[in-house]
Amino acid sequence: MSEPVEKILQKVDLGKEDLITLIRLGLDESRLLFETAWKAKQASVGNTVYFRGLIEYSNRCTKNCYYCGIRRHNTRYKRYRLTDLEVIEAANYAYRNQFGSIVIQSGENSDRQFIETIEHLLWEINRLTNHALHITLSLGEQNEKTYRRWFEAGAHRYLLRIETSNPQLYRKLHPSDYRHVYERRLEALQTLRSIGYQTGTGVMIGLPFQTTEDLANDLLFFHTVDIDMVGMGPYIEHAETPLYHYRDQFLPLRERLELSLKMVAILRILMPDINIAATTAMQTIDPHGRERALLAGANVMMPNLTPARYKQSYLLYNDKPGIEDDAEESKEAMEENIRLTGHVIGFGEYGDSAHFLRRTKEEGRRTRDEGRGR
Ligand code: 5AD
Ligand code: SF4
Repeated sequence: MSEPVEKILQKVDLGKEDLITLIRLGLDESRLLFETAWKAKQASVGNTVYFRGLIEYSNRCTKNCYYCGIRRHNTRYKRYRLTDLEVIEAANYAYRNQFGSIVIQSGENSDRQFIETIEHLLWEINRLTNHALHITLSLGEQNEKTYRRWFEAGAHRYLLRIETSNPQLYRKLHPSDYRHVYERRLEALQTLRSIGYQTGTGVMIGLPFQTTEDLANDLLFFHTVDIDMVGMGPYIEHAETPLYHYRDQFLPLRERLELSLKMVAILRILMPDINIAATTAMQTIDPHGRERALLAGANVMMPNLTPARYKQSYLLYNDKPGIEDDAEESKEAMEENIRLTGHVIGFGEYGDSAHFLRRTKEEGRRTRDEGRGR
């Protein structure tokens, strides 16, 4: 018999069994979980939502993840890469609208031209916007040299989802070749952190073969690696991917969303001062999925700034929403919906991870003290 929810939620340290109990809560009982997460959020990061303008730079990808619609072997999508001008224009939109931040995301590529173009764009965006935007990269696994180059060119944050913290499950979701190695991904996360990036990771929720214990371990993983930001959301099938063969084992979409919202709430309690994104995949299942994530504990939203004509080629999963909107329409609707949830939008603020700011301050202090021989 597990302990009553009230008692678990009062604990200072949540163990694996507690996490499993919380993840399994039914609709009625989870109300208390959401209330506790809301209070934790108010007390730590407050009710500001930070925008990151999302630029889906390219759908070319050298990888073949079994769940992803833009995997290399899917020949359905025309492959694109934005021109420098298109990226600059999208960044400029974020700048004019005081988003404070952008994310440049792409399929995984490590060719010289790709690396150099990103480096050049980082310099240009920082120069043209007078450093008014903090830039997050989400460009997959790269070697240390590349991560350093981009950091020195002015990237501040990096998102690299571990996808699942269970190495066996990771192997089921990816081909077994040198491009898809769990340990390498983990190493990449550590490298990013050591370089000085605000480091983000995340997982997919409701994957076939995934257990509640796996999800509890994912939460513990975020805590153990002391992550600064998390983006996680429901797994959503894509019919042209190998994982679709297992569709008879998928949880109903609604359940995947409920699980994701509970994961957000538990994570907010476990790591109160990190940044947590309300992800697009949640909105795919429920038009108000992202707002529900904000109410559960998320504090970051990513309005899509990819030029409209490319959006239908960046489909990681089926039924991705918003692909017919232009940037202006999405932003207006989003702002109104956010206000309705009682949040304010942090216009003109970078919205850096409070966790990152705290830990780097502490690390700085420790280094100074050691220098003085204390
Ligand atoms: N469902 C949900 N999320 C997905 N991603 C890729 N494919 C899917 C899918 N089918 C997520 C992965 C990746 C991020 C860019 O998109 O977690 O890291
Ligand atoms: Fe490529 Fe990322 Fe999709 Fe994997 S999840 S196939 S790395 S875009």
